[in-house]
This record gives sequence, C-alpha cells and structure tokens, in this order.
Amino acid sequence: MQETQGPIFLRGRTVNLRPVRKEDLPYFLVWINDPDLRDFILPYMPMTMPEEEEWFADLGKRKPSDVVLSIETTDGCLIGNMGMHRIDWRSRVGTTGAIIGEKDAQGKGYGTEAKTLLLHHAFTSMNLRKICSQVIAFNKRSEAYSKKCGYKEDGVQKQHVFRRGEYHDLINLAVFWDDFKPIWEKYQMSEETHAPA
Ligand SMILES: CC(C)(COP(=O)(O)OP(=O)(O)OC[C@H]1O[C@@H](n2cnc3c(N)ncnc32)[C@H](O)[C@@H]1OP(=O)(O)O)[C@@H](O)C(=O)NCCC(=O)NCCS
Repeated sequence: MQETQGPIFLRGRTVNLRPVRKEDLPYFLVWINDPDLRDFILPYMPMTMPEEEEWFADLGKRKPSDVVLSIETTDGCLIGNMGMHRIDWRSRVGTTGAIIGEKDAQGKGYGTEAKTLLLHHAFTSMNLRKICSQVIAFNKRSEAYSKKCGYKEDGVQKQHVFRRGEYHDLINLAVFWDDFKPIWEKYQMSEETHAPA
C-alpha cells in the first residue's frame, strides 16, 4: 500500500488529516465550485484560483481562530478537507465544517472517521469544551454523520438559508466531551481490532 507523503497531523485507520498544501488548491477549487456540493456549504459565489491562493496565503494568520486540515485516505489520496472555525478561546467553543469533495469517496465512513479524529484533538489537545456544527435541514447525510460522532440538536434557525429556490431551516448541532467519550472509546477498540498484526 502506498503511504501518505509528508507530515501527518492526525493519524487514523482509513484516513489521515494533514496540513493543507499548495498543490491541494486545484482540488479545493473544483469542489467549492461544484454545483452538486455547493448547495450544502455556505459559499455560493464562483471561486477563482487567485482567491483560493489568497485564502491559502492567509491560513497561518487565521490560525488562532480557524484551523483547516486536508483529508487523505491512508494510501495518500486527497479526498476532502475539514476545519475547526470561529474558535472562541474564552468560552472554549468551536464550529466544524467539512467537505468530502471526491464523490466516489462519500458515504464510505471517511467523513465520520475524520471528524472523530478532529473532535478527539479538539477536546483533548485544544481543550475545547463544546463543538458546534450547522447543517441545512435537507442535508441528511451531514446530519447523520455528525450525530454518529455524538452531536445533538442545539436549536433550529427557522427558514434561515436560501437554497434550491426556497428557504430552509438551519439545524444547530453541538457535542460535548461526555457525549463524545464513549464514541472515542468505541473507535479505539475498533482500531485495535483492525491494527495490522
Ligand atoms: C457530509 C460529508 C462530510 C459526510 O462525509 P461522508 O464520508 O460522506 O459520511 P460517512 O460515510 O462517514 O457517513 C454518512 C452517514 O450518513 C448516512 N446517510 C447518507 N445519506 C443519508 C440520508 N439521506 N439520510 C440519513 N442518513 C444518510 C450514511 O448511511 C452514513 O451512516 P452509516 O455509516 O451509519 O451508514 C460528505 O458527504 C460531504 O462532504 N458532503 C457534501 C458537503 C457537505 O454536506 N458538507 C457538510 C456541510 S454541513
């Protein structure tokens, strides 16, 4: 099996999270402009490569409040990215956002594992207390994978976002360590089961 090249920040069983590289940008650009993916995420204006490069150049400056990582399969294939955004260090709250941009990689458990790794890091390394996520009501897959990671509903913003010609509810989700701990323990047990001999 081909191994991921370069630094790995969070190591998983099927995916790793690693720092974003400049060569990731053409993939990010395709995903963020993709009409099939755009409905689920907040940006909706066309994104250009110069804008993407500017975003990349500013990543370091945004670090105290925004952390973004690329998601790779463990055989080194870039499939998406995931971030912890709007971090409020006083209240110890952050908001996750993610995209598995490679469509043939969706629905295979990669998002769930990536989020499990990021949440563990957020609770046990960054010392965050409450991790939020916002999901448009029709995005059932996103709601499902977040709930698999321990998120629970934390209020609904009624008729809040405009998509597909109408207004949709925005569901606030949140997870605390007590909700996540058993999920992490289960993940670790499954990791031991799958560890190479
Ligand atoms: C949302 C996203 C990050 C999830 O990652 P993923 O790797 O596809 O998700 P996973 O395979 O880990 O888990 C998806 C779960 O949702 C479930 N699911 C899929 N479609 C569903 C539906 N219509 N209703 C309910 N559950 C659904 C799957 O069955 C799976 O659960 P299971 O493993 O128990 O069967 C990814 O699909 C994506 O990037 N989508 C487009 C962009 C997006 O929505 N980003 C999030 C914005 S909030």
